Amino acid sequence: MQADQIFDHLWSDYIKQNPEVKRVYDSFISAGEEVVNDHIAFRTFDHERINIDKLARVFLQAGYVPKGEYYFEEKKLFARHYELPGKSEAPRVFISELQLDKCSSWLKQEITQMIDALPEGLEHEDDLIYKGGVFGLPSYELYKKLREESEYAAWVYVYGFRANHFTVSVNHLKSMKSLQAVNEFLKGKGFILNSSGGEIKGNPLELLEQSSTMAGHLDVEFAEGTYRIPSCYYEFALRYKMEDGELYSGFIAKSADKIFESTNFYSS
Ligand code: NI
Repeated sequence: MQADQIFDHLWSDYIKQNPEVKRVYDSFISAGEEVVNDHIAFRTFDHERINIDKLARVFLQAGYVPKGEYYFEEKKLFARHYELPGKSEAPRVFISELQLDKCSSWLKQEITQMIDALPEGLEHEDDLIYKGGVFGLPSYELYKKLREESEYAAWVYVYGFRANHFTVSVNHLKSMKSLQAVNEFLKGKGFILNSSGGEIKGNPLELLEQSSTMAGHLDVEFAEGTYRIPSCYYEFALRYKMEDGELYSGFIAKSADKIFESTNFYSS
């Protein structure tokens, strides 16, 4: 599959499933902006059936190549980003995975059992990245318990494989030239920004600044009934030029660490 087709599919699922991110997108369009994607992010576990390599497969087939690698010690995550050579406007792909060996034996066992129970061959299917929740009807009790140890694990348990966020390239905006301007615009529209570590993560010296909305709330069906929980969010990235004049293309682990908290539980 071509990269464009993959992203069209991911995008249409993302806005269908998350009315809040569609409103963010529509706000930019109404302001006369053209939205170009900086990167798209996915989450998974480091189990060999569904790890980063499995999710990356469709992108490699579309011509993407692996680039930077990142560790998040506190959140027990590893991530890799991918780029499409020769296509500077193609979004980067950022895939992270929870390192189960670093988690409690309880969490590792729960997640491993769930993954072992997945249908045979699922990991080889081309549509793995669009599959959404793959672990069956979730339990709200288990979701809450996972959240106490890892908000990330709880999110993947419920939402599975989908775009966790798309990211507006602020470099491509015409009227809003700084992340401050983007943030003020969004707050003016009533969106809640992730303020963990400050609204703007990173700085010009690090060559990348990022901010994000807090994930909107969705009614999710659990075995115990329907509960409103955070879903997906929208991110904004402004890249700076390196000494050679090219825009910096990687990620800053310290900043991404705080961005992961955009899906943390909060009351709506
Ligand atoms: Ni991101």
